[in-house]
Order: sequence, then C-alpha cells, then structure tokens
Amino acid sequence: AGAWAVVPAAGRGTRFGGELPKQYLTINGKPLIEHALRALLSHPGVAGAVVALAPDDTHWPGWTEVEGKPVIRCVGGTERADSVLAALHALSDDAHDDTLVLVHDAARPNLWHRDITRLLDSAGDNDGAILAAPVRDTLKRAGDGGRIECTESRERLWRALTPQAFRRCALRDALEHAARDGIAVTDEAMAMERTGARPRLVEGREDNLKVTTPADLALAEFLLARRVH
Ligand code: C5P
Repeated sequence: AGAWAVVPAAGRGTRFGGELPKQYLTINGKPLIEHALRALLSHPGVAGAVVALAPDDTHWPGWTEVEGKPVIRCVGGTERADSVLAALHALSDDAHDDTLVLVHDAARPNLWHRDITRLLDSAGDNDGAILAAPVRDTLKRAGDGGRIECTESRERLWRALTPQAFRRCALRDALEHAARDGIAVTDEAMAMERTGARPRLVEGREDNLKVTTPADLALAEFLLARRVH
C-alpha cells in the first residue's frame, strides 16, 4: 500500500489579490493544483490523493483520476489545519490508520520526484518528516519604530516546505488536539511537535516554492519551463 497525498486547496488566496484563488492560476495552461497533483501522483510511491476544496469552489475541474490514480474531493475548513483534518477523515475508507500521508500545498507546483522519494524514505517512524530548506539570509528582529532590535542567529533555522509526511492517525490525533486547545498551527509538523513528536528535517530543493505573489508565479513559470521530463 502506497502513501496518500493530501492537498489542502480551500484557501481563497486573498494575499495574491484578484478574483481567482491562487491554486487555479495557470502555468502552461495548467492550474497550479494540477502541477502539484501530477508531481505527487506520478510518483510510484503515491497511491492516490484527497483534495480539500472551498464549499463554493466553482473552478475545480471535477477530476476523479490524475495520472491513472484516484482523486477524492472533500470540503475544506476555515483554516488550513481544518482542511487537512477534513481530508484525513475523507480518506478513512481508502487507507489504513498507519498509511503515510503526504500533505502538500496546492500552490507548490515545482515538486520533484527525488524529494518525494527522500521524504518517504525518512518518514517511516511514528514522528514523520518534512521537506525543509536552511535559512540563507541574515535574520533581524524588529523593535520599535521600524528599527532593528537585534540579529538572530540563523544557525539551525530551517524553512518548512511541503510535502510533510506522517502516519494518518498520528496526524489526525495531533490536529484534533491542537484544534481542541485552540492553537492555530501553521503547518502539520507544528501540530505533531505539540504532542512530543520530533519530525525529521529532510533537506529539499530550495525552488519548491509556494506561489504567494505575482513574482512567485513568474519564477515558478520559469522553473517549470526548465524542467526536462
Ligand atoms: O494561504 P497559504 O499559502 O498558507 O495556503 C497554503 C495552502 O493551504 C493552499 O493550498 C491553500 O489553498 C490551503 N488552504 C486550505 N484551507 C484554508 C486555507 C488554506 O486548504 N482554510
């Protein structure tokens, strides 16, 4: 039994501006979410995907299969974590409790098979693993009046990317726990960490970017055009 991809795509993409949720912006005529789903489902270790959509989503093309593998849809929630939780519940009949799930942002179109393979290889234990990249810039903490308060060490600091891989029921329990405690988690690993788990950091490609601004879209277009298949 392979891993299942969970793709939260219920965000409204308001930071990008414009009408279209960002997961439906296109590169080479294909929406970002299609690039993400094809990258995941064309990997031999991934068995299928669950996509969490906004209740009033009118852009979803209605796929039930991508790359010859099943795609299940469900209704997402108000926060990203609610959408992931809804997807994990929607998966219950198609996966065992200990199935690995790979949670991946719909707005990250430039995911490579090698990174998926390395993540799957590291996520086997109960704590899971995430793709991440070391921080390259010098970090400043802002103080009053827009002045620098201090410089933070970037040593041992990583940017959390996706996919993030966990056992299905461990992640479900962790997300439910965070929701009960009223804690807004910004990624899945954060929910796991709160339960005492120590997910592994797997160094992934720096160009696995999340499209948030028009400049990101232009960069993603450039990166995808350079890929040889
Ligand atoms: O807004 P942000 O870039 O953090 O969103 C990351 C991913 O989470 C996007 O794919 C977005 O559609 C998804 N999301 C969601 N449900 C929400 C908010 C965001 O599925 N309520």
